[in-house]
Amino acid sequence: MADIIDELTQAFAVSTQQLQTISANFQAEIQAGLHGKASSFKMLRSLLPAPSANLKGDFLSLDLGGTNARAVWIKLLGNGRYTQKGRVSAALHTGSRDYRDAGTQAHELFDFLAALLTKLQPSSPDGYEGLGFTFSFPYRQESLAHAELVTWTKGFRTNGVAGQDVGRLLSEALARQSLPQIPKLKAIINDTVGTLLTAAYSDQNTGIGSILGTGHNTCYLEPRDPRTGGPMIINLESGNFRQLPVTPFDEYLDRESNKPGQQRLEKMVSGKYLGELFRLILGHLISRRQCSTTDIPRLLQVPYSLNSADMSIILIDSSSNLRGVEAWLEQKINFTSSTMADRTSMKEAALMLAKRSARLVGATYAGILRHIDTTLSRQHTIAVDGSLYEKMPGYRSYLFQALQETLEIKSPQITVKLVQNGSQIGGAIAAAMAGHRQRV
Ligand code: BGC
Repeated sequence: MADIIDELTQAFAVSTQQLQTISANFQAEIQAGLHGKASSFKMLRSLLPAPSANLKGDFLSLDLGGTNARAVWIKLLGNGRYTQKGRVSAALHTGSRDYRDAGTQAHELFDFLAALLTKLQPSSPDGYEGLGFTFSFPYRQESLAHAELVTWTKGFRTNGVAGQDVGRLLSEALARQSLPQIPKLKAIINDTVGTLLTAAYSDQNTGIGSILGTGHNTCYLEPRDPRTGGPMIINLESGNFRQLPVTPFDEYLDRESNKPGQQRLEKMVSGKYLGELFRLILGHLISRRQCSTTDIPRLLQVPYSLNSADMSIILIDSSSNLRGVEAWLEQKINFTSSTMADRTSMKEAALMLAKRSARLVGATYAGILRHIDTTLSRQHTIAVDGSLYEKMPGYRSYLFQALQETLEIKSPQITVKLVQNGSQIGGAIAAAMAGHRQRV
């Protein structure tokens, strides 16, 4: 048993040397992308610089994420402060209805989103100054309220959206609802941009915004955008980075995915794919006779049946006999006779995946920091949102450790900050910036 686990641990380990190579390649691809050369990054310009801390007003924010959609009323108070006044959220998948499926038409998805805005409780009696839409996918933007979806990610396949202007699709859906209360769509942003804006509203050192949830991506504040010469937040769509040390499990997952060859970093680090890698490893351990059972439980035969929350349940168990892991095995995958050795190797498997994810991401942040401040001469805040960073046991410290190792410093000038609900608050900030002609 130990041999196979040792082999796997080695295959999933990322050495300091590898971290530094990844970071240097990441930095080189930013440079290339910025100057129009071949790069795995899409370098999507957000048309926004950092926000002023003085923005104020009541805004409506609509957020389409990987698994849920949310509508939120945000009051910006100035001085970098805000409050959330009302909120409603709905799952994109309920019963037999999945708005992410190829069977769903664009207008059905956007009608669902527009209808969500009508369900907000409480809603502002005085109306709103604008609507911000956080659309967590790669899109190109020539103006703040229009955005053309380049390609779906995170397994979305809703029909008739790729290549279309999601600003128009949303505005048309809002018109179909004919709601007097709903303000004009002012800005469309990516969730990473929302996270950066939210942190930067109160902390001027913020130069990086990142999501570590169902999906993964990072944006940064480019000090000198080649087109304008001024500061501009650029969405890297860094999940598409591919100069990475991969294992046969990564190759298999990629081959079987609906977009082989794309989003290779995201497929190694984000919640949607970590659960799947975990399922593949558990199946491997059983089929290589490394478990006390030789039958692969039914659930483990179903692709994407596990998620990163399952891994968190396993990682959090520090009891001497791993009772939490035992209960998870019984309840989730109907494996009722696990031995301590089974449970230990499963925990090891979850650990190696979590560590690898955090270390790879840490190296990419280091690459961006080197790009924006070669000598690391100032303070930097990296704003992160998402369930992996927020909830996965140990994740934050593995990431920070990797950042320090890569930069070869005891990084006192680098802060990695959890920014909850950055997608929604950022939508409000972007709408406010649109109103204040802070565009670039
Ligand atoms: C999308 C990004 C998004 C990230 C996090 C990725 O799949 O391509 O646009 O920022 O997920 O939600």
